Amino acid sequence: MTKGKNSIKVALLFAEWGLLILFFYYAGTAVIIAEWYLLSLWLTRGAVEPFKAFFVRHFVPVSLIFYLFILWIATPIITAAFQCAYYRRKEQLGEERAGAIAHLHGVSLAAVMIAKKRGEDPELAAIAGLLHDMYAYKNGTYDDHARLGAEYARQILKNLGITSEEETNIICSAIAHHDSKAKVDAPMDEVLKDADVIHHSLGDPTKEVKAHEKERYERLCREFGFQ
Ligand SMILES: [Fe+2]
Repeated sequence: MTKGKNSIKVALLFAEWGLLILFFYYAGTAVIIAEWYLLSLWLTRGAVEPFKAFFVRHFVPVSLIFYLFILWIATPIITAAFQCAYYRRKEQLGEERAGAIAHLHGVSLAAVMIAKKRGEDPELAAIAGLLHDMYAYKNGTYDDHARLGAEYARQILKNLGITSEEETNIICSAIAHHDSKAKVDAPMDEVLKDADVIHHSLGDPTKEVKAHEKERYERLCREFGFQ
């Protein structure tokens, strides 16, 4: 989201609330004052003097002030807070989605490069990279996401019908094992694990390499001649 777009959004928010205050709250307040006046006249008609005096002097002004407080102060604050929270969440979801797309694309690209270097099938590596965290993004949880992600990927590949059974098994095995970074598994499993580590470590160079991925990252640095 650019700075300019944010300023327009804030200006629109202020304009919207300005119009609401002008055309709704002020007009509404006039109606309420009239209502309270008529109500006080009706309630005090024929009432005994002490009660009438108490009602007019204390109850009506206090209730009116309370009512105006809710209408003029509490309501705009509460609704503005809800609106701000809504925009913040919307923006956060947009960032999360952009991050997910960048990660899947980044891992897929890295997987192709690693597969080519090691003589593995780059197409299968690309598909594994694109699908490997899809389950976690779809369900918002990383609990057992490698195993469940492999099942989810199998379903997607079955529906797509673009891979043979053997190719589907290779892709799903890579996804099922991609979270076990400390173990060494089948060649394509290793391609996906390494691609994941490359994107975790180089996707944002300002961040530290994760402790459990450090050993694998250093091995990759040696293999690819990184500094
Ligand atoms: Fe990942």
